[in-house]
Amino acid sequence: MDKKIVSEILNKYHIKTYNPEDLVAFFTPLEKLVEKYTKKGEKILEIGCGNPIFGFYMNKQRYNIILTDISPPAKNVITLDIQDCEEFIQKHKKEFNLIYARLVFSKQYEKEHEEKTGKKRFTDIDKILSNIKKLVKKGGHVILIDDKGSIFSKKQFNFHGLKIIESYTVKLKPSIKNTVLVLRS
Ligand SMILES: C[S@@+](CC[C@H](N)C(=O)[O-])C[C@H]1O[C@@H](n2cnc3c(N)ncnc32)[C@H](O)[C@@H]1O
Repeated sequence: MDKKIVSEILNKYHIKTYNPEDLVAFFTPLEKLVEKYTKKGEKILEIGCGNPIFGFYMNKQRYNIILTDISPPAKNVITLDIQDCEEFIQKHKKEFNLIYARLVFSKQYEKEHEEKTGKKRFTDIDKILSNIKKLVKKGGHVILIDDKGSIFSKKQFNFHGLKIIESYTVKLKPSIKNTVLVLRS
């Protein structure tokens, strides 16, 4: 990622909570995977974008990403609860060459939610995978980047016809590691 362009986006949207160096360190592994698994112009879905800077950055580079979140933080982000999205699926069935989610389906994110509320955030894991499967094209890819691993098991991916083709850990900073999974539909 180009730090200068990241800084321009942060300035444009008056975002002061992130510094460009951190964003470049955190998002470069995802950028490389998006470049590897799609071509510019192909349809991409981001689930749970939170801060939308990465998607804005990629769309500025002529990628074609629909940014979504259950609780959209900005204009240009569509409201989507991936556990409950029948209407969205009707409109976008098998449309996406690539779907990615960073730090959404993470064991750590789920653990924090459970500790805080006593409940699980994601109550129907099979539904999430089945919805993702309905949205991704046959032969398309799903990238999941997580903290302390994914909430999904290999058996659950297999059951939904999502084959793991890459699985590794990436060090973002000396103290921060993420797990990376690439699945083929
Ligand atoms: C830890 S944040 C990660 C944000 C961003 N992907 C990143 O890498 O910085 C998790 C995000 O997932 C979103 N989220 C939680 N439950 C969701 C759901 N059921 N469907 C879609 N997004 C969800 C939250 O609103 C939040 O923005």
